[in-house]
Amino acid sequence: RIRPMDQDQLKRAAARAAIQELEPGEIVGVGSGSTVNFFIEELGRIRDRVPGAVSSSEASSARLRAAGIPVLDLNEVVAAGRRLPVYVDGADEIDAGLRMIKGGGAALTREKIVAQAFGRFVCIVDRSKLVPVLGRYPLPIEVIPMARELVAARLRAIGGRPALRDGTVTDNGQQILD
Ligand code: A5P
Repeated sequence: RIRPMDQDQLKRAAARAAIQELEPGEIVGVGSGSTVNFFIEELGRIRDRVPGAVSSSEASSARLRAAGIPVLDLNEVVAAGRRLPVYVDGADEIDAGLRMIKGGGAALTREKIVAQAFGRFVCIVDRSKLVPVLGRYPLPIEVIPMARELVAARLRAIGGRPALRDGTVTDNGQQILD
């Protein structure tokens, strides 16, 4: 078991290490979550070398702006053919084969879209996220509300036990089935 203070130190260390993976002067892809929040803080310290970030959530966008990093629109940077070398994000769970579960913060759809746009995915996790087999953390699935019961029924049919994440509405106005 990891004490909360220690875990924050580990998250910060992972966030600092990710700074070394960036290409100076290039746009950065930014994920979501408490580990990424430390990364955004670190990014703020080197903002002179960061022309902008493509963000995966409204929460990260607000933090990026507060740190003095311009938030860029994914459509615009893709249309302009800008280089998008490195995306940095956390995970809820990760195995030795680098497979991971994401979506604890309900930002999974945008995270996966932004990750696709970038060349490399640098995943920042502390040791509490490492598992021998994925599945300790329930797999989050974003659903369009009108499809919720249909998707839930299909998941039950393949052995799942979907549970609606109560009170959660994603940045896309959708719901989460865990
Ligand atoms: C957000 O939807 C998630 O995919 C996050 O990347 C994940 O929950 C990690 O968050 P923490 O760094 O807070 O554990």
